[in-house]
Amino acid sequence: MAAGRALLSSHTGLAAIAPLSSIGSRAKGLASSIALLRRRCPSALVSTSARCCSRQQSEGAVEEVKGHGKEETFVLTTPLYYVNAPPHMGSAYTTIAADAIARFQRLMGKKVLFITGTDEHGEKIAAAAEASGTSPSEHCDTISQSYKMLWTELDIAYDKFIRTTDLKHEAIVKEFYSRVLNNGDIYRADYEGLYCVNCEEYKDEKELLEDNCCPMHLKPCLMRKEDNYFFALSKYQKTLEDYLASNPDFVKPSFRLNEVQGWIKSGLRDFSISRSSVEWGIPVPNDNKQTIYVWFDALLGYISALLGEGEQPSLQQALNSGWPASLHLIGKDILRFHAVYWPAMLLSAGLSVPNMVFGHGFLTKDGMKMGKSLGNTLEPKDLVQRFGTDAVRYFFLREVEFGNDGDYSEDRFINIVNAHLANTIGNLLNRTLGLLKKNCQSTLAFDSSVAAEGIAIKDSVNQLVEKARYHYENLSLSSACESILEIGNVGNLYMDARAPWSLFKQGGACPELAAKDLVIILEATRIIATALSPIAPSLCSKIYSQLGFSKEQFESITWDDTQWGGLKAGQIMAEPKPVFARIENSDEEKRNVVFPKKAKDKKKSLRQGLVEA
Ligand code: MSP
Repeated sequence: MAAGRALLSSHTGLAAIAPLSSIGSRAKGLASSIALLRRRCPSALVSTSARCCSRQQSEGAVEEVKGHGKEETFVLTTPLYYVNAPPHMGSAYTTIAADAIARFQRLMGKKVLFITGTDEHGEKIAAAAEASGTSPSEHCDTISQSYKMLWTELDIAYDKFIRTTDLKHEAIVKEFYSRVLNNGDIYRADYEGLYCVNCEEYKDEKELLEDNCCPMHLKPCLMRKEDNYFFALSKYQKTLEDYLASNPDFVKPSFRLNEVQGWIKSGLRDFSISRSSVEWGIPVPNDNKQTIYVWFDALLGYISALLGEGEQPSLQQALNSGWPASLHLIGKDILRFHAVYWPAMLLSAGLSVPNMVFGHGFLTKDGMKMGKSLGNTLEPKDLVQRFGTDAVRYFFLREVEFGNDGDYSEDRFINIVNAHLANTIGNLLNRTLGLLKKNCQSTLAFDSSVAAEGIAIKDSVNQLVEKARYHYENLSLSSACESILEIGNVGNLYMDARAPWSLFKQGGACPELAAKDLVIILEATRIIATALSPIAPSLCSKIYSQLGFSKEQFESITWDDTQWGGLKAGQIMAEPKPVFARIENSDEEKRNVVFPKKAKDKKKSLRQGLVEA
């Protein structure tokens, strides 16, 4: 929270700016803000038009609803990344998670708008450009491009990439600023406080370490005295308090809601939204001696990103194309900006607040947040080159419970992806296809629905798929992976229990039973590939291809394809090829291979219960 003293000053040229003391007289504006909040649908993760419908039915539909199409759109965003340095694994983490959620929502049949981008203004960026000996705009072009390249390497299928140096964004920020100004929520004052350039935030002395060091960046904050424009955040204290009390799903996970409520309760202070000392930024409308504070600029990227190519850059136009967002995915360090400042700013401008802000934890190294400022980062490019995109995506989403912190260890990385992707899934598929080739000319002899008649495995798989869907819906990505992997465990146990290789050698009905068993296991791997496709798209595409489907068929799958019965008699499988190459590591033999806990515990009961329905 902004520390220091905001001193109302008697600057000239402020006729349009209402002083803080007049805030009480603007009760009407505030009352309509509350109405805006109340009109929001309470349920979590409802997509834009679903909420629009209910809003339109209520009296005095809000402005931004007009003209918005009927089709449901799930709008989700990553933070816009600072371009002071190229991306590291910490920045990639949010984006991978967002991509998995976007892909899941698409599978569910939703129209999705997945927004990401770069935050390019401010002191920190200007300093980085200077250090690299380039102009700020050249520097931003280079780093912004490196983000885009990494997203391609990581299979990130975003729909919009917004740069805060885009002209259309600047127009939106200025229009938004004017709206807030007209609502009387901006005033001018002198300000003195301790500033952390890396956080781009004034700090309270009590939250700092020795020598006024920022606890996040371990660098001393600097005393600053400036004449700035302020946003009247304090005015929204009660509104936000009431809103969070009646909409607990606004901040997730729920333990972060408590944190946000604590901040609000301890008192909201107005914060400065301009800098007189920073040139690299959007000029304040009507005062080009000041630039707009990076956060008052960057948050608006979530709205300016909605504009289509060549569209009139007006707030109304942008809002019509998908506001409010369904989900802002962010790291816990920027929760205050998204769950306190941002809703208050939106209310001040007469706009709806997003449906949900999810604050995930940090990737840490030796317990410290991985970051550009501390220089303890992990290079996502190196990881992708050494282990492949699917391994990187799977490991971080499976290993770190979304919402909590997680420490990286290479040993664990190799153990997990080898055990889960190479063994449990890849090997199961490969050995089943090998048996099918040897005994059935790589052709399925039965429909999977017929093969599974009276067999309990089908129900187990259906239940696990349902669990995975539930976890995806609740953004519990690690648990979703766990449920899907459990299908692989079930498949392996079934294979071992039935031993089809031996049945093929026996007489009577045995070879037919063995052929059915292979269909059953392949159907389970097809379901795994469907359900896991948001997490490891390229691996799942390979599985589909091994099962004899075309790329187009894979690309048109939906969540309904997780239902049992997709594989039909006569389908010809591809030549068996491993879908995930085991990562070699000389130390590996010494390590314990990790199996999911639940699978281990359940091993015995599964073995007994799988075969007979
Ligand atoms: N520019 C602001 C966001 C503006 S959004 C309108 C910003 N940028 S950032 O590049 O510093 O951080 C972007 C995101 O990366 C944040 O959500 C942050 O939490 C996340 N991460 C950066 N390091 C991280 C880890 N070590 N682990 C997980 N996420 C981390 O803040």
